[in-house]
Amino acid sequence: MLKRIAVMTSGGDSPGMNACIRAVVRTGMEYGFEVYGIRQAYTGLLNGDFELLTSVEVSGILQRGGTILQTARNEEFRTPAGQKKGLRRLNEHNIDAMIVVGGNGSLTGALKLHEAGFQVVGVPGSIDNDIFGTDMAIGVDTALNTILDALDRLRDTASSHQRAFIIETMGRGSGYLALMGSILGGAEIVITPEHEPTMAEVAKSLGDAYVRGKSHAIAVIAEGASYTATALTDYLSKDPDVGFEVRLTILGHIQRGGKPSAFDRLLATRMGVKAVNALRDGTSGSMVALAGRKMDLIPLKDAISQVRPINEDYFQMARFLSR
Ligand code: F6P
Repeated sequence: MLKRIAVMTSGGDSPGMNACIRAVVRTGMEYGFEVYGIRQAYTGLLNGDFELLTSVEVSGILQRGGTILQTARNEEFRTPAGQKKGLRRLNEHNIDAMIVVGGNGSLTGALKLHEAGFQVVGVPGSIDNDIFGTDMAIGVDTALNTILDALDRLRDTASSHQRAFIIETMGRGSGYLALMGSILGGAEIVITPEHEPTMAEVAKSLGDAYVRGKSHAIAVIAEGASYTATALTDYLSKDPDVGFEVRLTILGHIQRGGKPSAFDRLLATRMGVKAVNALRDGTSGSMVALAGRKMDLIPLKDAISQVRPINEDYFQMARFLSR
C-alpha cells in the first residue's frame, strides 16, 4: 500500500509542468497519499530537498509557466554512486514511489531508479517533442504558439521593410518546432537536422520569393542544424540574388516560458492524474503517453530507446505549401 509519493520536474522546464504538479498533488490527496515535491530535480533528491505539498501549495499555479519545484540538470545522478545516494534519500524520507516529469535525460534517471527496484512513473515534459512513444509532451503546444506569435510579429516588420528574416528555434537535435513553426507560420523554407537544404538552396528559395513579388520572406532554422543561423545570415547577406535585406532573430529561451495553452493545461492535468493512477495500480518503469486521444502507459525503456521521429508528410507539406 502506497502512503507517501514524490514528484519532481527535471531538465529544461516546459509550460504546463505546474499544471501537472497540481494534478499529481490533488489526485494523490484523493487517494489519501502524502505527496512530497522534490526541489530542483535530481540535485534536490541528492540533497534531500523535499517539501510536503498540499492543496494550498498548488493553488494558483495552473496557469503559471515554469515550475514551482524548480528544475536542474545533474551530473552526479548519472553515476551509479549518485543513484545509490538518491535511493538512500528516498528511503530516509519514507517515499514509496515517485513521478518524474521531464525529457529524455530525466526519464533515463527514472528508469535507473526503477531498475534498482524503486517504483517510478515518468511523464514526458519538454518543448522539443523529441520523446519517443508519445504524440505530444507537456509544453510543446505552448512553445509552438510562442513561436507563431514571434513569426507573425516578425513578418509584420519584414513586410514593412522588404526584408527576409532568418528565425532560429530551439529543439536540441529535433527539427519538430522549426518544421511545425514554418508550416503554421507560412515560412518559405525550413532547415532542420532531419532535412537540411544547403545555404545555396535557402538563398534560392528566398530569392524566388523576391522575384514573385513578395514583400517579405522567412526561413526557419532549427538550432540543431549543422550550420548556424548566424552563418546562414552572413552567407545570405552577401548573396545579391536574395533581393531582400536579411535580418536574424534567435528566439531562444522565450520559447520555454509563458502561460501554458489550453492544450498543455489539459495534457499536463491528464498526464498527472494518469501517473498517480498508475502508481496506485502498482505500475513501475512506465511513462505516461498520449496516443491519439487516449492516455496510455508505455515502458520507460522504449521511451528512451530512440528519439521521436517526425512525420515525413509534414516535410512534404512544408515544401509545397511555401510556394
Ligand atoms: O530541451 C529543452 C531545451 O530548451 C532545448 O530546446 C535546448 O536545446 C535546451 O533545452 C537549452 O538548454 P538550457 O536551458 O540549459 O540552455
